[in-house]
Amino acid sequence: MSESPLVPPSSVVLVSGGSRGLGLAIVSDLVGNGVKVAAFARTVTPELTALAEKYPDQVHIGSVDVNDAKATQAFVKEVEEKLGPIDGLVNNAAIGQDSLHVHTSADQLAHIIQTNLTSPLVLTRFVLRRLLAKSLKGRIVNITSICAQRGFPGLVAYSATKGGMDSATRSLARELGGRVLANSVAPGFFASDMSAVLGQTQLDQIVRRTPTGHLTEPDEVVPVVRMLLLDNTNINGQVLVLDGAASI
Ligand SMILES: NC(=O)c1ccc[n+]([C@@H]2O[C@H](COP(=O)([O-])OP(=O)(O)OC[C@H]3O[C@@H](n4cnc5c(N)ncnc54)[C@H](OP(=O)(O)O)[C@@H]3O)[C@@H](O)[C@H]2O)c1
Repeated sequence: MSESPLVPPSSVVLVSGGSRGLGLAIVSDLVGNGVKVAAFARTVTPELTALAEKYPDQVHIGSVDVNDAKATQAFVKEVEEKLGPIDGLVNNAAIGQDSLHVHTSADQLAHIIQTNLTSPLVLTRFVLRRLLAKSLKGRIVNITSICAQRGFPGLVAYSATKGGMDSATRSLARELGGRVLANSVAPGFFASDMSAVLGQTQLDQIVRRTPTGHLTEPDEVVPVVRMLLLDNTNINGQVLVLDGAASI
């Protein structure tokens, strides 16, 4: 019998930056939908610890810096021993920026690019190599940003990393030949620690420019990530923009 061309729903999903903000919302939602989830961040929060304590057989967490390749790889192996092979990856961990390009040092630029672009690609490579070696299929969701589509002052390097991830998503989808569905989800601005640097004037301006009249809510992003990981779709290599048409 020939192999089904469909990519099954992910059963073990690794979420980077799953300790707070959107990442934590994604983790909670997946756990509630019966998916085994591993999450890491540099600091494990009480909320994430509570989930791991409530669902010890379904959730595995760790304190890991995405920029420490050895530590992320050790965590991946630990997750696979505990939960089984990872067949879903959400690259969510990222740092923001709040500095004009002319005031951003070369070291700061390198750190943003390392955290938001290079390290997620290194992690993706590691997860993919293990998945493909086991002849598994899988799904990748890269959390990018509206900043990859529209310009915002103070976010030059950040925007470059998000645009880079969107481009990588398209080429991954081509390269993986349908074994792995790779997509980006690009939210508009939503309230979180990262966006706390935006002033009320900037937030009001974004809302005024948004036909739906409100900032994106993490609750509006979570179901789209879930769909890309769990539903039977042929969506591949796409950037799904979730910004209430602010950028249109
Ligand atoms: N907020 C927005 O308006 C907005 C809009 C569009 C897209 N996004 C994107 O949405 C995603 C989530 O953003 P958010 O607003 O929820 O951010 P957040 O609240 O700042 O959370 C970021 C998460 O990433 C983790 N993280 C950061 N640096 C890390 C590192 N070096 N190693 C491991 N984990 C790291 C953080 O934990 P630790 O700090 O403890 O490591 C935290 O869990 C990001 O990719 C962001 O670019 C955000």
